[in-house]
Amino acid sequence: MKFQAVKGTRDFYPEDMAVRNWILQAWRDVSLRNGFEEYDGPIFEYLDLFKAKSGEGIVSELFHFVDRGDRELAIRPEMTPTLARMICAKAQSLPRPIKWFSVPRVCRAEKPQRGRQREFFQWNADIVGVDDVVADAECILVVLDFFRYVGLTPADCVMKINSRSLLAALLTAKGFAPERHADLYVVLDKRDKLPPEAYAEVLDKVTRSAEERSDLETIVQARGESGLRDLATLGRGNEAAEAEVARLRSLFDTLALMGVGDYCTFDMGVVRGLAYYTGVVFEGFGRAGLQRAICGGGRYDHLLQALGGPPMSGLGFGSSDVVILDLLNDLGRLPASAKVTSRLDYFVIDAEMSLFPVVIELTARLRRAGHGAEFSYRRQAIGKQLKQASTRQAAKAVIVGAEYRDRKALVVKNLATGQQSEVPLDGFPP
Ligand code: HAM
Repeated sequence: MKFQAVKGTRDFYPEDMAVRNWILQAWRDVSLRNGFEEYDGPIFEYLDLFKAKSGEGIVSELFHFVDRGDRELAIRPEMTPTLARMICAKAQSLPRPIKWFSVPRVCRAEKPQRGRQREFFQWNADIVGVDDVVADAECILVVLDFFRYVGLTPADCVMKINSRSLLAALLTAKGFAPERHADLYVVLDKRDKLPPEAYAEVLDKVTRSAEERSDLETIVQARGESGLRDLATLGRGNEAAEAEVARLRSLFDTLALMGVGDYCTFDMGVVRGLAYYTGVVFEGFGRAGLQRAICGGGRYDHLLQALGGPPMSGLGFGSSDVVILDLLNDLGRLPASAKVTSRLDYFVIDAEMSLFPVVIELTARLRRAGHGAEFSYRRQAIGKQLKQASTRQAAKAVIVGAEYRDRKALVVKNLATGQQSEVPLDGFPP
């Protein structure tokens, strides 16, 4: 019987692993330079943690199981409930501000398609305990800093920003009772994701009249500076709506100050499917090709309290290797450094079979001294060994031959330039 990898999972052969390591390293570099500290949690949690907190969309995609102690567990489909649980457990003693990032492997039993797998790496960065709009801006800045880091410009991608509080204020003003908002968010989130007929069908289920549907459409289609102005007019006199419009304006001003204003635009159509968001919400998209969100996040005011913690607000985002790599590949922007599978400083070669013990001894010595060193298992002509050295992407070849026998010297060849020189064994490595 022949086995294949399960649908929606990926095998990482060395060349795939090089790309994966490159992207995880880029996430780490960017997070650290933006002042975030790394954390991690367990790969599975109690099922109830996600049932309570993630919202319908994610819960329907959970991989869950019962352990031998009859505990209902689930493999993490996202990181936010784990983060909230961890912070709740030590809320009093953690140094502030809490700016944490993580690069967990997560699983969702989604239908595999372009940009979506059932197992992926999800970069998360969150700021907890800071209500100020500057934290909203910083969270968006770190994603955009990463976009820049990998060469994605405002011509390649856009960050669409909205506020659930503004949406809530406008919905309430239009007569949609707050108890109905959660269901409305789930449906409005689908407006740009479903074909129009399918969207109309789900919209019918959560609305009661054509007038309600028309009110919703007026609100949710607003985008860009003019859209925000229209909503400001619609919300005039409503204290909550006015406060949220002012906060959004201040957010856009701060993002401009941070030099990333060109990536950002207001879009009421970004509602986000997850249940816990309460304030600013945002999603990044490629401008051409891939239609899937490349990142998504927002502010959650009640999540920690709902888990028994203190009343602390937080915000953050998630983004995955799958979508970023699809986008970079589409644009032909994956850098050469992402394709390097080995980091060998030296490839040690014997010019004569009798010198093989020297090769073994020298390779081991180089490794002990901290260098990447490799040699061929097969005794073969120098040309073939040199070829192997280039295939393995070694920086230099070290040839043990007549020079060694005659005067204890080695020939060191730079494989990039072809330059070679004789070096006394005593002074090697330099
Ligand atoms: P999310 O929108 O469910 O949010 O996922 C965030 C990002 O993860 C998506 O924009 C997408 O890039 C990626 N993603 C989601 N599902 C898949 C999949 N099946 N395959 C590949 N990539 C995927 C969250 O998970 C929130 N917990 C983010 C967050 C952190 N909010 C606050 N802090």
